[in-house]
Parts: sequence; structure tokens; C-alpha cells
Amino acid sequence: MGLQIKSLFKSYGARENKVTVLNNIDLNVEQGEMCVLIGPSGSGKSTLLNIIGGIDVADSGEVSINGQKIENMNEKSLTTYRRKHLGYVFQMYNLIPNLNLKENIEVGSYLSKDPLEYEELVELLGLKEHQYKMPNQLSGGQQQRTAIGRAIIKNPSILLCDEPTGALDYKTSKAILNLLEEVNIKYNTTIIIVTHNEAIKNMADRIVTLKDGKILKNYKNNKKISARDLEW
Ligand SMILES: Nc1ncnc2c1ncn2[C@@H]1O[C@H](COP(=O)(O)OP(=O)(O)OP(=O)(O)O)[C@@H](O)[C@H]1O
Ligand SMILES: [Mg+2]
Repeated sequence: MGLQIKSLFKSYGARENKVTVLNNIDLNVEQGEMCVLIGPSGSGKSTLLNIIGGIDVADSGEVSINGQKIENMNEKSLTTYRRKHLGYVFQMYNLIPNLNLKENIEVGSYLSKDPLEYEELVELLGLKEHQYKMPNQLSGGQQQRTAIGRAIIKNPSILLCDEPTGALDYKTSKAILNLLEEVNIKYNTTIIIVTHNEAIKNMADRIVTLKDGKILKNYKNNKKISARDLEW
């Protein structure tokens, strides 16, 4: 089970303007694996995440989650797939400004048949004392933790994080990574973290490097360390 990607191609533009952004990607990520995806700007990281997330469509190739191929799905089943299986966390938190923290997290649970318990989750997020604040009363790190809460309350099998610490300072970044690690362990969520930060790869079970739309390296990390021991 988990995530399987086979011979994936994606390009933008037509004829002489055509740019190949993903060039024959093969990747397997097991259920419950913490995967860190690194690569220079423009290497195709976000494009790959968007295709896994069903937000963008590949030109060819296969993406399956838990044995289900997403390219065979119609619009309706794709929507259900996103609701049931996927959580998405972006660099910018995208919280709804006129809902408080609790309501922002609960938005994620309305979409699920089998959501996590809010009370348990807000404890894990370390946000209980802030739960009635509005987004503009929260720090960047608190907003990102709220966004993570919104993404995981539906208990997705896979959580996609596109530079989740890109807008945060060192200490706050570590707290976010620590939280992602706790989610991974507690709920066996498959997590893919896209980052520019080389240090973050050390907390991964699997490290994948992308360059010019190709996988340069893909290996199991046998020197995995805890997020709290990361340094950069
Ligand atoms: N909608 C689009 N139309 C045309 N080109 C695009 C589009 N989206 C992405 N690209 C191009 O595809 C390439 C890969 O973009 P992508 O956003 O996947 O890179 P990235 O690895 O996430 O980079 P960064 O680290 O800067 O976020 C870039 O050259 C980008 O210009
Ligand atoms: Mg990107």
C-alpha cells in the first residue's frame, strides 16, 4: 500500500515552448513513511506534490494511493479521494480569517466520515490555550500548527507538506517538524515534506532528491534522527 508513482511525465507549454518539468519519475513511499523531498528551485518538487494531491494532472504515468490509481478517476471520485486520503500543508497557512483557531481546524473534519477527536488533536498541536483566537491573533508558528491540524483532523493516509517551515524561524520550524514527526508516529500517516533545507532530510525514513525533473537519489535513511535533534 502507500504511494506508488510510475513513469510520470509532466510538461508545460507547447511545441518550441515546451518545458519538461517531471521527466520519468518512479517513486514508492510506504504507508507510514516519513519522506523528505529536496531539490533546487524549479526542479519540480511542487509540481510533483500537486500531481500526487490531484491538484494538477500529469501528461502520462501512474499515481496510486493505497492501490487506487488517480488517473482513472473522474472528477467526483477525485474529489472524494482528496477528501478521504489527502492532507495538504503549504508554506503560507491559508487560514480562514474570520474563523477562530478551533473553527479553522474543524473545517477539515466536516469533510471526513472518520475524523480525529478535536480535543485530542488540539492537545497534540499544543494550541488549546489559543483555540478561540482569530488567525491575526496568532504567531506564524501557531498559524502553521493550526493549518496542520486542519489537514490532519480528517485522518488522511497521506500528508503533503510543501515547504511547511519556509516562512518560519529556526525554533518555530523545529517545533513544526517535531509536530509532523509526532503525527507520523501517532497516526501512521505517510508524510512527504518538500524543503530546501538539507538538514531536514535527517529526520526522514526516505530521502529523495530531485534535479531538473528527475530523481537523482532515492534511498532509505539508516541514520534517522529525531526532529528535535536537527541542527542547521
Ligand atoms: N503552471 C505552470 N506553467 C508553466 N510552467 C510552470 C507551471 N508551474 C510550474 N512551472 C515550471 O515548472 C518548473 C518546476 O516548478 P515547481 O514549482 O515544481 O518547482 P519547485 O521545485 O517547487 O521550485 P521551488 O523550490 O522554487 O518551489 C519551473 O521551471 C516552473 O517555472
Ligand atoms: Mg515549490
